[in-house]
Amino acid sequence: MDSVERPNWAPGDIDLARPSIARVYDYWLGGAHNFAVDRVVADKVLADVPVLRSVILNHRAFLRRAVRYLLSQGIRQFLDLGSGIPTVGNVHEIAQAVDPTSKIVYVDIDPVAVAHSRAILTGNTLVNVLQADVRDARGVLKAPEVQNLLDFDRPIAVLMIALLHFVSDEEDPHGIVGAYRDALPPGSHLALSHAGYEEGDWDPAWDEAKGVYNRGVSEMTYRRKQDVEALFEGFRLVEPGVARLPLWRPESPDDLDENSSRFLGFGAMGRKV
Ligand SMILES: C[S@@+](CC[C@H](N)C(=O)[O-])C[C@H]1O[C@@H](n2cnc3c(N)ncnc32)[C@H](O)[C@@H]1O
Repeated sequence: MDSVERPNWAPGDIDLARPSIARVYDYWLGGAHNFAVDRVVADKVLADVPVLRSVILNHRAFLRRAVRYLLSQGIRQFLDLGSGIPTVGNVHEIAQAVDPTSKIVYVDIDPVAVAHSRAILTGNTLVNVLQADVRDARGVLKAPEVQNLLDFDRPIAVLMIALLHFVSDEEDPHGIVGAYRDALPPGSHLALSHAGYEEGDWDPAWDEAKGVYNRGVSEMTYRRKQDVEALFEGFRLVEPGVARLPLWRPESPDDLDENSSRFLGFGAMGRKV
């Protein structure tokens, strides 16, 4: 694609021949920051597993409920890792609606996500955007965008929403979470959602969808409930623990999906002890 076809929200250095995690997700969420190459693979996965759209919306709904819970616990600082391309209901909108002094740092590896975040956040001095690989926890934690905004003597919420299934076992998700945890003061929280399944509850259609996604976009790792629980070492899990997404503190009947009994995904929150 040449520069004439490149929309003004797409930075010049992105690879337009290859779908990106962030742009495929944006398409599934109904956003406009994606290309045909993203939509082709997104539609293929959706054709295999139509319930996926509902799963994606449940990850976003979990994000909303998690941030509201965190605000109710007095948390006013958020480090949103793998924050994605902003759509509606972003962390700063939810948090600053409750307390305009809330501070948020968005971190993503994707240039479109970062460029669009910066564009919509111009003038919001309590929100920073950092382009970084979240697997490099030290690099993220010492970045000026993080250090100059967040106060590490006060509780911080680290959010990893629909992120860690893009980190393979070899890349050590447990160690990555631990590196963030160790930098946080007690009373801080970790909220994450994760693609995964419970023993004996596997639908072969998910394998097909994962194959298309892995070949076309990025390698994904589904994890079992106990694997997700293990990521919370050093945190006390908030009730109801690691739960299928719609069942994590639903706020209304709309949060409860009719497919929740076979939902491919967990949500969980922990408080650093
Ligand atoms: C499925 S999207 C979720 C976006 C957002 N958290 C949400 O819930 O709407 C996953 C995001 O993680 C980002 N991501 C994946 N691997 C990453 C990494 N190693 N470092 C930083 N961001 C990453 C992708 O670019 C994408 O924006």
